[in-house]
Amino acid sequence: MEREMIVILDFGGQYKQLIARRVRACHVYCEIRPCTTPLEELRALAPKGIILTGGPGSVYAPDAPLCDPGLFSLGVPVLGICYGAQLMAHLLGGQVRSAEISEYGRTQLWIDGPGSPLFQQVPRETTCWMSHRDYIAALPAGFIATAHTPACPTAAMEDTCRNFYALQFHPEVLHTPEGTEMLRRFVWDVCGCGESWVMDSYIEEQVAAVRAQVGTGRVLLALSGGVDSSVAAALLSRAVGKQLVCVFVDHGLMRKGEADKVKAVFGPGGFDLTFRPVDAGERFFAALKGVTDPEQKRRIIGEQFIRTFEAEARALGEVDFLAQGTIYPDVVESGTGSAGAVIKSHHNVGGLPKDLSFSGLVEPLRPLFKDEVRELGRKLGLPESIIRRQPFPGPGLAVRIVGEVTPDKVRIVQEADAIFQEELQRFDVDTGSGQFFAALSNLRSVGVMGDGRTYEYAVVLRAVSTEDFMTATAARLPYELLDRCMNRIINEVDGVNRVLYDLTSKPPATIELE
Ligand code: XMP
Repeated sequence: MEREMIVILDFGGQYKQLIARRVRACHVYCEIRPCTTPLEELRALAPKGIILTGGPGSVYAPDAPLCDPGLFSLGVPVLGICYGAQLMAHLLGGQVRSAEISEYGRTQLWIDGPGSPLFQQVPRETTCWMSHRDYIAALPAGFIATAHTPACPTAAMEDTCRNFYALQFHPEVLHTPEGTEMLRRFVWDVCGCGESWVMDSYIEEQVAAVRAQVGTGRVLLALSGGVDSSVAAALLSRAVGKQLVCVFVDHGLMRKGEADKVKAVFGPGGFDLTFRPVDAGERFFAALKGVTDPEQKRRIIGEQFIRTFEAEARALGEVDFLAQGTIYPDVVESGTGSAGAVIKSHHNVGGLPKDLSFSGLVEPLRPLFKDEVRELGRKLGLPESIIRRQPFPGPGLAVRIVGEVTPDKVRIVQEADAIFQEELQRFDVDTGSGQFFAALSNLRSVGVMGDGRTYEYAVVLRAVSTEDFMTATAARLPYELLDRCMNRIINEVDGVNRVLYDLTSKPPATIELE
């Protein structure tokens, strides 16, 4: 089906996904493409508009990322943001220079062109989020400046005849309060997009697409109980019913009661699909015995998972398709191939089985962002307990236990975590934008309980606020909540005589302990 689309050309900016999410929130479909996308490919996509992202480069540097200047001749509206704005100036004959001082953070913004299509509803004086050193020193022919800041004469410029717009600041971040409005005006008014990106029609489209791809074949999905694989299961079951086989490998490292919750939702009486739970805890514990190195733990769990999954798949006999809950951020990140130091090998447990052959891969969530996946899940009737589930690492509690993983340590973390979750709920803490969990340090220390000496473990409460899980700060939880958790955990969980609250941000720490 033909769908109106905005193309976002990526010049290496850290906010590219945020731009895409804001455009999607206007119910307009968009895709992120590398800035080097050939003109012919862009033309074939027939976008209603193009957005050029920010990026760390300077347009006049020899290695500056560029796009084909021919895109300005496609007759399609273009919006340049930050580096994208400077590139537009540079490629169309303006001048970009390095400023004496850089502008960073929240900045006063004056609108000089109140008639601008982007600024119709924007007050004359507002704020924006700046992050730049280079600036547009001379405008290309045909452009007028439409906004300025104390240090930046061209905070926005436009050529309404050709439909080219440029913003030096970042409209996509919430620190630019009018930014969403500006993006909305660009995609709706300038590009003329309608609100065609809605989840109801996405369900219909995907159900038809999956049926066409799969026919009468059998589809196998590794269901973890996380949001993505659960929504994929619900969607696929609507498309192909019992032809879908969901294998749920319970590695014994889930949070308290979680395995039962997954079984209740997807087992008999739940969705119309073939559900195969595998109780593999013993196997995982045996493989993890004596292992203390975090990376080795991850490797072992990944490997055990694949082996268990493969054995189950073989026992099923003929399977034609493998389904995965891949979502758009996975696609974008793996496509850009950013090279950095390996801090942790974040393999999702459930990577591709190596020794099984399938005639195709089914990925019904591939174009979706997380918030869209949640919306889809709600429409498909999944319970809130799954939709609002906090991200949980593939290797489970094994990365929340420092040192060797044993069934007893898992019990301690499960019990302590359940208490923490109960209290978070009781104190009405919004856990939506972060991660809140109990972990187990490898620290044992001396205590005194009931006149006797104890030598027990220290539970760590970890709570972070984060937008993107790349950086995070410790959540400011009420002291009474922490105090109550300490009290309950010591009293109710055997093997614990200390409770610590982890104040560390990321960086320097990571969110999980291992
Ligand atoms: P870190 O600990 O690296 O975590 O700050 C960032 C986010 O990633 C999750 N995480 C994982 N997810 N497999 C996963 O699927 C893993 O091995 C893994 N390790 C960490 C973590 O829960 C947080 O949301």
